[in-house]
Amino acid sequence: MSGPLVLGIESSCDETSVGIVRGNELLANEVASSVAAHARFGGVVPEVASRAHLEAMTPTLTRALATADIDLAQVDAIAVTAGPGLMGSLVVGLASAKALASALGKPLYGLNHLVGHVAVDILDHGPLPEPVLALLVSGGHTQLLLVRDITGDIVEVGTTIDDAAGEAYDKVARLLGLGYPGGPVIDQHAQTGNPRAITFPRGLTARHDLERHRFDYSFSGLKTAVARYVEQRELDGEPVDVPDVSASFQEAVADVLTAKSVDAAQHFGVQHLVLGGGVAANSRLRTLMAERAAAARIELRRPRPGLCTDNGAMIAVLGAQVVRAGRPPSSLTISADSGMPVEQVLA
Ligand code: KG4
Ligand code: ZN
Repeated sequence: MSGPLVLGIESSCDETSVGIVRGNELLANEVASSVAAHARFGGVVPEVASRAHLEAMTPTLTRALATADIDLAQVDAIAVTAGPGLMGSLVVGLASAKALASALGKPLYGLNHLVGHVAVDILDHGPLPEPVLALLVSGGHTQLLLVRDITGDIVEVGTTIDDAAGEAYDKVARLLGLGYPGGPVIDQHAQTGNPRAITFPRGLTARHDLERHRFDYSFSGLKTAVARYVEQRELDGEPVDVPDVSASFQEAVADVLTAKSVDAAQHFGVQHLVLGGGVAANSRLRTLMAERAAAARIELRRPRPGLCTDNGAMIAVLGAQVVRAGRPPSSLTISADSGMPVEQVLA
């Protein structure tokens, strides 16, 4: 394999990560998470995250270079998450990337974190077929994206009108007393639960909602329904069956995510679907999407679960695509953009 040797830095939330790729080949992906420091607060504390990034950045970089067995001087380009994310966290990665680019005399590419989540599948399954419909499901975002060119032509065709899917997982886990982050632990409990034990609502699927919000999502009603169910059980003095609640909640999320993805792919005449973001690691979402995509004769791409959550390799591989496409590098004076829109791949 050949292609540009790109070092990618990710620091938008609570993971400090450095990935190294050569073209579409993964050489290293080191991740240092500060999740344990946030767990007792039930969510990420921005100040704690920024400080952790400062401490973890240099050791993570050193480990990535050792794993890839390369020298910094060999790198062709430095890629970094410019947004969206937590301002104080983004700034640490961006300052590190600018320092490296400037000291090494190499181009800097400030990239969109969300697009990185979609691009990461290239490391597992090769070049993205385009156009492709991407379902991006993370802690802060839930979007359906029509991707005609991963380096510069992305259109949002649907989004959540309230909570993100990952946020719903985290909130439901909190009310079940399962800690943070909620996704992996609910996924685990759901394995032994009955997904048909409780019928939870599927947001924006009623006929009148479909007229205006055919490809949009809503998870706040679902979260409230789980809260009401748990409250009622407690009022009745009945135990809450955590596996059954987890499995039934998870089924509601996976059902609506997959149904609208397949509907959108068919509507836009797209033959390929790709999953991205932390919730794409979810076992039920992965299985149900595979079943429904196959039934609709749509080809599904799912990055391995370990690459779905935040990491530097996703930024490095997007950087490699951007370099190959000949896009101009970012200025060394770019700022972090906490609200960077998904249509903007490069800062
Ligand atoms: O993409 P990501 O690592 O960070 C953001 O950019 O937000 O996504 C984190 C989200 C969290 O809400 C976490 O609970 C969820 O992904 N998550 C999962 C699973 N693993 C992580 N949700 C459901 N099932 C999982 N297995
Ligand atoms: Zn993310």
